[in-house]
Amino acid sequence: MFEHLSPLAADPILGLMIAFRDDENAHKIDLGVGVYKDEAGTTPVMRAVKEAETRLLASQATKSYVGPAGNAVYNEEIANLILGSELANKTKALRCTFQTPGGCGGLRLAAEFINKSKPGARIFVSDPTWANHIPLLGDAGLQIEKYPYYDYESHSIRFDDMMSSLQQTKKGDLVLLHGCCHNPCGADLNHDQWRDIRDLALKNGFTPFIDLAYQGLGDGVDEDCFGVRLLADALPELIIVSSCSKNFGLYRERVGALTVICSSPASMKATSSLIAGTARGIYSMPPDHGGTVVEMILTNPAMRADWEQELTQMRQRINGLRTLFVDRLNAAGVDRDFSFIQNEKGMFSFLGISVPQVQTLVKDYSIYLVDSSRINVAGINNANIDYLVNSIKKVIG
Ligand code: LMR
Repeated sequence: MFEHLSPLAADPILGLMIAFRDDENAHKIDLGVGVYKDEAGTTPVMRAVKEAETRLLASQATKSYVGPAGNAVYNEEIANLILGSELANKTKALRCTFQTPGGCGGLRLAAEFINKSKPGARIFVSDPTWANHIPLLGDAGLQIEKYPYYDYESHSIRFDDMMSSLQQTKKGDLVLLHGCCHNPCGADLNHDQWRDIRDLALKNGFTPFIDLAYQGLGDGVDEDCFGVRLLADALPELIIVSSCSKNFGLYRERVGALTVICSSPASMKATSSLIAGTARGIYSMPPDHGGTVVEMILTNPAMRADWEQELTQMRQRINGLRTLFVDRLNAAGVDRDFSFIQNEKGMFSFLGISVPQVQTLVKDYSIYLVDSSRINVAGINNANIDYLVNSIKKVIG
């Protein structure tokens, strides 16, 4: 039955993780997979997570099933975190939130649910977008369309082109938007641009689908939800998939959420039951541990304050690295303008170099980055920045 199969090419992002691990070069640098790294190059367990895990271990009295929606308190806390408490209350009768196995699980659950509701629905995704969006959404049966997003020459958003492409949308279509910290380009929509998207959604009737994987790593926990909240307040329907992988550092625990806002309480009830049935048919219910850790942090003022403080430090470190990196490239006399990197948000930016140049960095210098030239800025530190800058200078000539 399986004799005819041949292996797939390595995953463009996760494949780098393995190649980096196996590389014995003492100077190797990992700018590949999107995980936060501290100055020592490690991805720490956050303090509040450790504290919650200790308490959980001591207090948990059962491992019995929780059900397809996962932890109900976690779900409500996540709705509050992404929407803010006022809007979470205002939308309460119209909204359902499901704990999911990571952001990926949320994206796939949403796609499967949408495909049941409208088989083969069109979803417009930014060009470029995160590589895994395509299989997560497309393999569920959705029809992927692309809208222009990033201008590689000017390192800015092609907003006029994006809006003219989205003019073709109609009711029943979806538009995937990155809530903040666009992956892979780091170029985020400004407030006016979010308002224009809201107006177009109202006019054309498409349903926005927001992927919010980096809340807190751009401008701040609330600031990064400007677009989410603007759309949630104005539109009859909205889909939001959020993740606790990055902002709680819970990557391998798989903690995410799918929130859907519907146009009426009756539609919400039907939606909620269809999502529960869909989850039951794929993975039955999400793993509990990470969601309960997040619940404990968000409902305990001291742990929550500590989490926010550590998250702020992570964000500030990334933003500081953006400036430091550009300064060092300039100081080394690299004959190219990289100043755009300072203005981008979150973990990622494109270096804007060619695929052969990327491959030279990987093969000859053990500097790991995605073929598109996407770098994870958090992988830079004081110990590797000189080697990084000098290698880039040699490779781009
Ligand atoms: C990334 O973009 O590097 C992260 O979201 C990790 C992943 O699963 O691809």
